[in-house]
Amino acid sequence: MKKLMIVGAAMVFAAGAAFAGAHGSMSDQRVKAMKGVGGAMKAIGDGEGDAVQHAQTAKLLMGDMLKLFPEGSAEYRAKPNIWTDWDGFKAAMEKTDKAAAALLVAAEGGDRAKTLAALGDMGKTCKACHEEYRGPKPKE
Ligand code: HEC
Repeated sequence: MKKLMIVGAAMVFAAGAAFAGAHGSMSDQRVKAMKGVGGAMKAIGDGEGDAVQHAQTAKLLMGDMLKLFPEGSAEYRAKPNIWTDWDGFKAAMEKTDKAAAALLVAAEGGDRAKTLAALGDMGKTCKACHEEYRGPKPKE
C-alpha cells in the first residue's frame, strides 16, 4: 500500500513537472483554472455569450480546484497557511463551489437580475479566500 502511494505521488509530481512554467508547476495550473473561472464570470457580467454555458464552465473548474493544491506546493502567491489551515482553506473553496452551483441555477432560470446577484455573491467568496490565503504578487 505504501509503495503504491509513493508511485502515485511520483506520478503526480511528474505530471506537475510537465506543466512547469513561469510560476511553478502547480501554480501555473491553478492560475490558469482560476483565470478560467474569472473569465467566465466576467463574460456573464458583461452579458457576452451564453450565461448558462459560462456558469457551467465556472462550476466545473471550481469542482476540481482543490486538487490543484497538493501539500507543499506553496509557490507563486499560494501562502503556506493553505496547508497549516487546510480545513479552513477547504471550507473557503466549498463556499465558492456552492456559490458557483447557485450561479448556475440562477443562469438556468434565465433571470438576469438574479444571475447578477448570484455572480456578486460568488465574487465575495473568491475575495474572502484571497485575503486569507493568497499573498501579494511577487516582483518579476
Ligand atoms: C479557497 C481559496 C480560493 C478561492 C475560493 C478562490 N481562489 Fe483564486 N486563488 C487562490 C490562491 C491561493 C491563488 C494563488 C495561486 C498560486 O499563486 O499558486 C489564487 C489565484 C487566483 C488567480 C490568479 C491571478 C494571480 O495572480 O493570483 C485568479 C485570476 C483567481 N485566483 C481568481 C479567482 C476567482 C474569480 C475566484 C472565485 C470564483 C477564486 N479565485 C476563488 C485561492 C482561492
